[in-house]
Amino acid sequence: MAATADNTPSLTVSRLFRIAWFLLSPFPTRRVGPTRARLLRLVGADIGEGVTFGPGVRLIAPHRLVIGSRTRIARDATIDARAGVEIGPNTMIGFEAVVLSETHRFEDPDQPVRDQGMEGRPVRIGSNAWLGARVFVLPGRNVGNNAIVGASSVVTRDVDPNTIVAGNPAKLVRERDPGELTPAVDELPE
Ligand SMILES: CC(C)(COP(=O)(O)OP(=O)(O)OC[C@H]1O[C@@H](n2cnc3c(N)ncnc32)[C@H](O)[C@@H]1OP(=O)(O)O)[C@@H](O)C(=O)NCCC(=O)NCCS
Repeated sequence: MAATADNTPSLTVSRLFRIAWFLLSPFPTRRVGPTRARLLRLVGADIGEGVTFGPGVRLIAPHRLVIGSRTRIARDATIDARAGVEIGPNTMIGFEAVVLSETHRFEDPDQPVRDQGMEGRPVRIGSNAWLGARVFVLPGRNVGNNAIVGASSVVTRDVDPNTIVAGNPAKLVRERDPGELTPAVDELPE
């Protein structure tokens, strides 16, 4: 891959990736999910074995994406990885979920927000986590291992491992029972 020192792919590679991703976009996971993963590796993403992507998934800055093995990103999810997004193994990101790692700066009263630039805040989602449909994860937030985030929730604070949270803003519903937890959960990839 032709890339710069910080792993950013060349313009040509980026464009070819976007065209190929778009062409594969409508097809179901069982047909081209693994092909999408292979394509991502070509632009520098760190994608584990058995990772699948549903149709219509949108990715910004895929070269800054790290996903552990057997994780599933469901259809029409959006991941903005410009400041880096790490997702652990065996995790499920529900359909139409949105994971954001950049936000607009807005502190300067003398400039329109659109001219103030962006601030990156990396996001980490642990292993064996489950984000329900239409969950929003705001920039800089972490979701712990074994955590569950209810459908349509907005993650505005870090989510502790082994908990269930829900709502906008997402609040603790309950700790997960030890009996529900996977005994040996891999750590996030390096
Ligand atoms: C979060 C979830 C797993 C919790 O399941 P559960 O442990 O069976 O929880 P319960 O249904 O007993 O609800 C517990 C409480 O949380 C609330 N709650 C549950 N899910 C919620 C949600 N998504 N948003 C807001 N509140 C929610 C319930 O209203 C209830 O509150 P109460 O005690 O004040 O009445 C489930 O509700 C959920 O959102 N699943 C995701 C479904 C989904 O996205 N499917 C697509 C597959 S990708």
